[in-house]
Amino acid sequence: MRMHRRNATSAVRVGQYQDLSDAHGEPIAMTAAYVFTSAADAAARFSGAAPGNVYSRFTNPTVRAFEQRLAAMEGAEDCVAFASGMAAIAAIAHARLEAGCNLVCSRDVFGTTLSAFRSYFGKLGIDVRVVGLTRLDEWRTSIDERTRLVFLETPSNPVQHVADIGVVASIAHAAGALLVVDNTMLTPVFQKPLRFGADLVVHSAGKYIDGQGRTIGGAVLGAELLMDELRHVRRSLGSSLGVMNAWLLLKGIETLELRVEAANRSAGELASWATTQAKLGRVHYTGLPDHPQRSLVCRQQSGFGGVLSFEVGRSREDAWRWIDALELVSIATSIGDTRSMVTHPATTTHCRLSIEERRLAGISHRLVRLSVGLEHVDDLLADLEHALATLPAFDAKAQAFEPDLLPDTPWRSS
Ligand SMILES: Cc1ncc(COP(=O)(O)O)c(C=O)c1O
Repeated sequence: MRMHRRNATSAVRVGQYQDLSDAHGEPIAMTAAYVFTSAADAAARFSGAAPGNVYSRFTNPTVRAFEQRLAAMEGAEDCVAFASGMAAIAAIAHARLEAGCNLVCSRDVFGTTLSAFRSYFGKLGIDVRVVGLTRLDEWRTSIDERTRLVFLETPSNPVQHVADIGVVASIAHAAGALLVVDNTMLTPVFQKPLRFGADLVVHSAGKYIDGQGRTIGGAVLGAELLMDELRHVRRSLGSSLGVMNAWLLLKGIETLELRVEAANRSAGELASWATTQAKLGRVHYTGLPDHPQRSLVCRQQSGFGGVLSFEVGRSREDAWRWIDALELVSIATSIGDTRSMVTHPATTTHCRLSIEERRLAGISHRLVRLSVGLEHVDDLLADLEHALATLPAFDAKAQAFEPDLLPDTPWRSS
């Protein structure tokens, strides 16, 4: 029997399980508790001496099916699912960090990742060090013998810088630290960080894995021993994935490959179009042939994903005007939905960064981010063009713009 299967097959077949009804679809194990055959069985399962479910904060069959399916796709030994991507990231930090150690994180990760590290782990005596994603010199000087975790997201969102996972992994490993890669953006369909030396992969599963904008969830993948640690954190801190959400993710993952390939094709077309538009400035998409890290992109990624960003007009007003003129694309801050979404990162997802941090991350007030969905690409193109026609004529590519010096948006909790 051939054991290695392709992703498309794993996505619909791994983790299949049945109840007594013979239903073809996986049942939703909507239960908090489980019945033991005897007091001795209860004691054995509680202590871990015997396998089996105990209580749904610890394990649940539907959650487990989702974990097995995602692990097969990511090529990981095992997976632990969480209530959200942030719960997954926090669990890694809880498992691995202690007072006096440090964590080294790339600057352009998802905004809340960095603010969570700083707000909730910084105050426990953990030094949070921030480096430029592509700056190997900064990774080398910041990672030392007190580093426990190295965290990065590649390609970065929204400006699509790419980290060399293999090189950062070897710097981390030489110091005895683990490398964590947030793979939400490309999914296992287009990038498998564990193959390049990452120790842990994180997903915000409500993005492409659900793919239909219905739920939130998170997952961490890696070696069995590390997953055991995370299962303990989840059991103790209660950041477990809900059963209904696990079932939605289990079904969402079945169409992951088809969806991300379609989004990848459309995003490529839209990015190429954007490079030809005089009213649009720089275009950021790893699929463009002139991406500054093209050879690394081709070595590390097997696709480019459905997210791109570009600068619109001359000012924030122009960017907002263009966004407001879109008729088909939704104004929403998530990614990976069947429906295309646009956002203005400087005033939404990245509003908690200081002006200097935004400048370093390349996020100007002219920048907009597009998460391309499954609408027909010609309709998307027509929408983007129609919105652009509302801006006066000028050549954004020929003109240099002052760095934006708008005041910082006050900190808000989310
Ligand atoms: C790349 C990335 N990582 C992590 C997260 C956090 O995930 P969640 O919203 O599921 O907590 C997000 C959320 O948008 C994200 O985009």
